[in-house]
Amino acid sequence: MNVVFLSPGFPAEMPLFARGLAQVGANVYGVGDQPAAALPDDARAALTDYLQCSFGDEAAAVERIRSWLRGRSIDRVECSWERLMYLAAQLRQTFGVPGMTVEQTAIVRDKERMKEAVEGAGLRVPRHGRARSQHEAWSVVERVGYPAILKPIDGAGSQNTFRCNDASEFEAALQRTRHVEEISVEEYVEGEELTYDTVCAGGRVLFENVSWYRPKPMILAQNEWISMQNIVLKDIHAEFPRPGVELGREVLQALGFEVGFTHMEWFRTSAGEAVFGEIGGRPPGARLVHAMNYGYDVDLFTGWAEAVCFGRLSQDVTPKYNASMVFKRAQGDGETVVAHRGLGELLQRYGQHIASIELTPIGQPKRDWRKVVVGDGWIVVRHENLDFTLEMSEAFVSDLLVVAG
Ligand SMILES: Nc1ncnc2c1ncn2[C@@H]1O[C@H](COP(=O)(O)OP(=O)(O)OP(=O)(O)O)[C@@H](O)[C@H]1O
Ligand SMILES: [Mg+2]
Repeated sequence: MNVVFLSPGFPAEMPLFARGLAQVGANVYGVGDQPAAALPDDARAALTDYLQCSFGDEAAAVERIRSWLRGRSIDRVECSWERLMYLAAQLRQTFGVPGMTVEQTAIVRDKERMKEAVEGAGLRVPRHGRARSQHEAWSVVERVGYPAILKPIDGAGSQNTFRCNDASEFEAALQRTRHVEEISVEEYVEGEELTYDTVCAGGRVLFENVSWYRPKPMILAQNEWISMQNIVLKDIHAEFPRPGVELGREVLQALGFEVGFTHMEWFRTSAGEAVFGEIGGRPPGARLVHAMNYGYDVDLFTGWAEAVCFGRLSQDVTPKYNASMVFKRAQGDGETVVAHRGLGELLQRYGQHIASIELTPIGQPKRDWRKVVVGDGWIVVRHENLDFTLEMSEAFVSDLLVVAG
């Protein structure tokens, strides 16, 4: 099994997917824009060969990769990083291998195309429209109404995403997004925000998960002091997550999704209705794969690799715990982390339920929370009981302070 894997060294989790492919027995041909010497050790260890290639010009990249691989038969082209998904689809076409086509990729990358597809299947999406000019934006918002959301058509990380309560806020948001070529304007959906994530093969769901964002990612992107919690729920058939599982399964059917990771975001209204948010044909970011691994006691980096290479997932994917991941951002005036205030006491109280903890070490510079999604560290607590998991998670939010001085 020869697999081309795009960008094995970046972003942070990619070496783990490369490792997963090697672990299931694939020969992994890595392609990235870093020099081979700059690859993280675990990425390098997983690779059969590596090509450094610039991605600026897609057609040129396809040609370089093709001539590099001449004489070898390729079975799969995989990419877990959103930015290179079109290139991956083009390479699949070039090598004639299965997986998402360019057309299917467009549906999971373009926030209007995906809503049209989901809506076309009779599923609930926010009222929405595409706008390429201010004039178009005004005509969409007239139809959508307030409060509205304005965001880039292919955005990520809640960048340039604004809630607008009235026309003057909409005008201000339009001014702030003048540099964005194409935007999506949507009805603002009030409610909790959750995910529905899967690993699929042969059009079947082999693994599924729901996690709960607290608070909403948009709020998190706008407020430095907030610690995010992302909670992998053990019982996805309970009343709270169930509407999203039902919606998610229907969305996958509507899109005809075949193989690989999916990551859907959805809103749960106070009436219990699930409303589609967006879907990616890739694994979730922000360490959510780690959180799922802790919740299910599995290794989805390898599980995904087995699914894409061999169409099965042989690990036991029975849910074991609720697992909450908390991200911390250093607080204080300085640029250096000087204390982990409250940590000792939290370790004493909850130590046995802490699955992982990684904080910026004392004496190291604090991270730029706008660039590094995990900020100054992350903690995973887990337990069979959801209320207790939430109690521990809240304790790490409020009683642990990473102090910058
Ligand atoms: N229609 C909506 N109603 C309410 N909130 C919304 C809506 N659309 C977006 N948001 C908020 O803005 C955030 C970012 O929007 P969205 O997920 O579409 O973009 P993104 O930047 O691609 O996110 P990601 O980093 O997950 O790829 C959402 O997580 C949510 O908090
Ligand atoms: Mg999103």
